[in-house]
Formats: sequence, structure tokens, C-alpha cells
Amino acid sequence: MDRRQMESAIAGVVRCLGASLKNRGLYPATHPLVRTPVEKCRMELAPFFVDRSELALTVSDGTLVLEGVPIFQLTSSLELFMARLGAIGLPAVIFERGVSVEDIELFVRFLHETKEQGLPIPEIKARLARWGITHIRVTATEDEEKDDFTLAREIYGNALNVVVRALKDVRNGKTPDGAESDRAVREMSGMVSRNRDAMLALTLIKNFDEYTYNHSVNVSVLSLAVAETLGLAETERIGIGVAGLLHDVGKTQLALDLIRKPGTLTVEEFEEIKKHPEEGFAILGKMTHIQESTRSVVREHHMRFDRTGYPRPEPEYRMNPHSYVIAVADCYDALTTMRSYQKARTPQQALEIMRKLAGKSLDPDLVELLERSLGVYPVGTMVRLSTMEVGVVTGTPDGGKGEPKVAILFDRSGNPLAVPQGVDLKEPDPSSGRPRRMILGTVNPLMHPPVSMSGVLQTVTA
Ligand SMILES: [Fe+2]
Ligand SMILES: [Fe+2]
Repeated sequence: MDRRQMESAIAGVVRCLGASLKNRGLYPATHPLVRTPVEKCRMELAPFFVDRSELALTVSDGTLVLEGVPIFQLTSSLELFMARLGAIGLPAVIFERGVSVEDIELFVRFLHETKEQGLPIPEIKARLARWGITHIRVTATEDEEKDDFTLAREIYGNALNVVVRALKDVRNGKTPDGAESDRAVREMSGMVSRNRDAMLALTLIKNFDEYTYNHSVNVSVLSLAVAETLGLAETERIGIGVAGLLHDVGKTQLALDLIRKPGTLTVEEFEEIKKHPEEGFAILGKMTHIQESTRSVVREHHMRFDRTGYPRPEPEYRMNPHSYVIAVADCYDALTTMRSYQKARTPQQALEIMRKLAGKSLDPDLVELLERSLGVYPVGTMVRLSTMEVGVVTGTPDGGKGEPKVAILFDRSGNPLAVPQGVDLKEPDPSSGRPRRMILGTVNPLMHPPVSMSGVLQTVTA
């Protein structure tokens, strides 16, 4: 494409965006006059990505600039588009290769529905993430990944507060605010779509004292990742995420020392524990913004795939298949967490145990799907490299199919590095031309001094 072709193609893209934006104000979202320009826009963008991975449109002094060169082919729809960008405070729009019709549609909806003026950039980013817009950005690449981790941490922290409040409310005899849980899960769901690694990395934070809270958020995040891999619709994904967040809310009705009791329970104690799914079902029934299926899932999360769990289902009782998603996420998070009576397993060990439970207590398809969602070496796995260095997986590109990103924590003699060092596993050894470092296998994290996973991720992505 030469410059002139590019300019007219980009004018075409913006015209489509403008047309869809204009028609959104006049017709319902599903109307062809809203939808067709979005599809056309996606088509017009395609040729750009033949030889580039992104296309940046910036706004400077009220003029649209394509890679440094202003575009003056103004039309009324282009003006409208520019005016919306300017009003919201967007400095640039960057389309990435892989941008989908859904991304564009959501972005147009964002431009249409955002009424505030001059929003700060982090807030715009947070909103795009919440909406699940994945291949359209508003600033340059450099700080994007760091921002995703920062954003993910904020979103995780917010969900944690929501759980703490909800459980406290129940203990005080109050009904928790369902809208809060719904909002927190929507944010996490958006972040899982946008940067799954950033969100999943946080599930490795296992706070022993606050086990129930972190566990609730982790189960929610893991279920959202599975729900997304399953390709479920948004409402269903949110329903599953909320079920994950509140699955153990019924435990608030139990005595605290029973929940925290290490080791084996007596028969009577276990009978008490068995009540929490029904208690949860009752609590969710009083809350607003809770889908009916979310309630059922909370009641069913211990029934097990082979129906041998509790409360024991009657033969004709039909279980919600989403309950199996929560069960898988619940099991994975419990296995990878250190408890007073159990050491934490590595992700690989946990998945190995779960493979044995597949078809019995767990849905075999979902166990496989979880493995696929997490990749061969899930984020946070400690690995030994062919150089005998020990590192941690910090990213799993292409949904786990790509070469993992690794940060070295210990040198070949086992001495910790002052600062973790991110390495590229594809980097060749100059003498042989073969990759310098390969993953030999996983390492038991307990063999090494404890490392703060969030600290590692922060250093590597900063
Ligand atoms: Fe439970
Ligand atoms: Fe649980």
C-alpha cells in the first residue's frame, strides 16, 4: 500500500466508524445500519495488517493524524468521530492485528455511551478493559503491559474488598449488595479477555490468613478463564464468575474455628460443613442482581460430576453444567494453596491430581479445558532451564501455545538474582544457533527461598 492508498483506506475506516456511531444514536444496536459499517470497518482494516501489527491514529489539534501525517479528507461522519474522541479525551486509537468486529462494535458503543468529558487516560483504559475490548488501545505499547498488571491488581483488589464486605454483611445478619459482586466480576471478566496472564498471575497470591477471601476471588477468576475458553455468552460468563466469587458465602454461617480447623473433621463437623451450599443458595436468594442459575450453581458446587457429593442430588435432579466449572476452579485453587494440613502443589501436580479425578468428581472435558486455559506451564510455574538457572513463568502467549515468557530468579549455582531477569527463550546461542535456554522441567518452589510472585511480575513487566 502506498501513502495515498493508505490515506484513502484509513478515511474509509474512519467513515465506517463515524457512520456506525451516528446510526447508533438513531437505531437499535442490532440494526444493520449500525452493524454493517462495523463489519465494513473490520474489512477495511485487514490490508493494513498484512505487513504491520498495529495501526495508530492520533488526534492532534483537532486533526486526525495517521502515523505522523495529517488526514484532511473530512466528511461529516469523520467529524463526528473526531469530536467524540476529543470530547472523551482519547489521545489516540491504536488498532492491533487481530481486532474483531466485536471489538469495533464495543468501541463504537463506548464512544456513543460515554458521556463524561476529558476522562483521564487510566480511567479510559480501565473502562476499555471492563468492556472487554481487547485489540483497540488508546496509548503506545511501551507501558501497556505494566499497565495491564497494575490494572489487574486494582481489579483483583476491588473484588477482594467486595467479598470481604459481603461475608461481613452476612455475619452481621445483613443482605450483601449483589450489584457490587456483579460489577466486580464484570471488571475481572473484561480483564481476563484483555490480558489473561495478568489476571491469572494474581490467583497465585495465596494469603494464608485470609484464605476464604483470596480463594473466592481466585475461583472466580479461574472460572471466568474457563468460561471464556468455552466461548460462553457474556451473561453466562458473568453468572459463573459471580457464582465463583460467592460460592462459599454459606460458610459464614459456620463457626470460624470450624472453617479454620486444620486436619480431619469429625463426622458431626463434616455434617455442619455440608450445609454451606444450601446456606449460600438461601443467601443469594435474598440478594439483588443475582441470576437464578448463579444460585443453583452455588447450591451445586459440591455435588460433584458423578453426583456423589453433597447435598446428594435426587436421581431426577438436573444439575447446571456451570456447577462443574466452579468445581474444577475450586479444586485447582485449593490444591495449589498451602494450608495448615497440606502443602501447596505446583500447577502441574495439581493438574495431575485433577486428571485422576476427571470423570469421577470432576467433569473430564473441563479438566482438559482448564489445562488448555492455563497452558503447559501456567503463569507462576517455577522451571529449571537447560542453563541450570531457575526461573518463573511470567506469561503464556497465544493462549498457552506460544513459548512461555520466563524470568530468571536463581543463577546456575542457586544464588538469587538481585533483580529477576526476563529472558527470551527463542534467543539463539551464537555458537550453535540453537536456543540458548530451554525449559527442562518444573521445580518445586518449596526447594527455594520464597519469592513474591506479584513482586516478580512487577519487576519483569516494569
Ligand atoms: Fe464450598
Ligand atoms: Fe471453595
